[in-house]
Amino acid sequence: MEKRLKAGIVGAGGIADYHISGYLKSDVEVIAISDIDTERAKIKAEKFNIKNVYSSYKEMIEKENLDIVSVCVPNKYHSEISIECLKNGINVFCEKPPALNAKETEKMVKAAKDAKKILMFDFNNRARPESQVLMKYIKNGDIGKINSAQALWIRRCGIPGFGGWFTQKALSGGGPVIDLLHMIDLALYFMEFPEPEYVLAKTFYDFSGNPDFKGPWGIPDVEGGIMDVETSSHALITFKTGQVLFARNSWAEMNKREEVSVTFQGTKAGGMIRRLFGRDGIDDTAIDDCELYTMENGKPVNRKIIVEPDPKMGRERAVINFVNTIRKKEEPFSKPEQAIILMKIIDAIYKSSDEKKPVKID
Ligand SMILES: NC(=O)c1ccc[n+]([C@@H]2O[C@H](COP(=O)([O-])OP(=O)(O)OC[C@H]3O[C@@H](n4cnc5c(N)ncnc54)[C@H](O)[C@@H]3O)[C@@H](O)[C@H]2O)c1
Repeated sequence: MEKRLKAGIVGAGGIADYHISGYLKSDVEVIAISDIDTERAKIKAEKFNIKNVYSSYKEMIEKENLDIVSVCVPNKYHSEISIECLKNGINVFCEKPPALNAKETEKMVKAAKDAKKILMFDFNNRARPESQVLMKYIKNGDIGKINSAQALWIRRCGIPGFGGWFTQKALSGGGPVIDLLHMIDLALYFMEFPEPEYVLAKTFYDFSGNPDFKGPWGIPDVEGGIMDVETSSHALITFKTGQVLFARNSWAEMNKREEVSVTFQGTKAGGMIRRLFGRDGIDDTAIDDCELYTMENGKPVNRKIIVEPDPKMGRERAVINFVNTIRKKEEPFSKPEQAIILMKIIDAIYKSSDEKKPVKID
């Protein structure tokens, strides 16, 4: 009989719930949780009936015989914790963004290779049913070459937790460019991860200290806390293959409503995956769409793809795919090397804006 996998969680915040429920649905035993704030870990342990609570993740991985660790902490610690777990022979599912930058991400990918363990990042939007259906069309050759794509995650009032870790560059790596990197990642996935060549971008800091632009969710505000990250970004990315991607990311910008979408134009067909939120961050009014645009019998045809709705936006399904990858039952939705390409683009967006010129990616 197959051995039951044992998982530990590092970080008992909001996203950890999806990891735990994904493991439970995959018949993985979640036996331990650690958080520097032990009270938070205790509350989560009680909620999900997890036996062992630690304040130090190092102690957790020393004392427990874990097959899997989920890294659900602020971005600054992704790299250090993932590498330590991999070195200890543990498979790692790390939250997005992979790390603060491409250099740290490269170190994580190397650590996984050296340890011969699986490292996957939570690009949960790839796990959405719409994304997987679109990928089938792409793999079947129905779309042709995707010449161009547009990736948007734009909010009007969506700054998460004023002065908390999300708004401090040293802890988060940046604002919506790095936090809402999902749609750039999804567009790259559809474009089959071409090698980027140039990035031209501009970031803005408007409404930065204005509480009217705070999101209706997220971590608590910290009085007098630091807010030194961008609030929006507009970027153009070109690839060595001749493809091009336009990306917009914002937490605070005068947009009509929150939109999370990728639209693409292929040589045979175009397509789109989109979630429109009724108000920033309120899920129950969301409208999901997935469409294909073709020419059939000399006429333009729009096809609507119907899937089972996934209000969790693939967050549990991504965990299940990670477990099935370990069990060799499924192909992984993401490969670690892809995260390096993604983070090189993120780095270049910030660099281009700072230097006020296009940045060449080697
Ligand atoms: N995939 C998604 O849709 C999604 C959504 C939200 C957040 N995230 C990502 O998940 C991660 C966590 O976000 P969150 O919203 O749960 O944050 P959070 O602030 O709610 O929780 C983070 C937890 O980590 C703990 N922590 C901080 N440093 C630690 C350390 N060194 N060791 C152990 N614990 C530590 C904190 O005490 C806190 O309880 C971030 O990287 C974020 O980008 C992903």
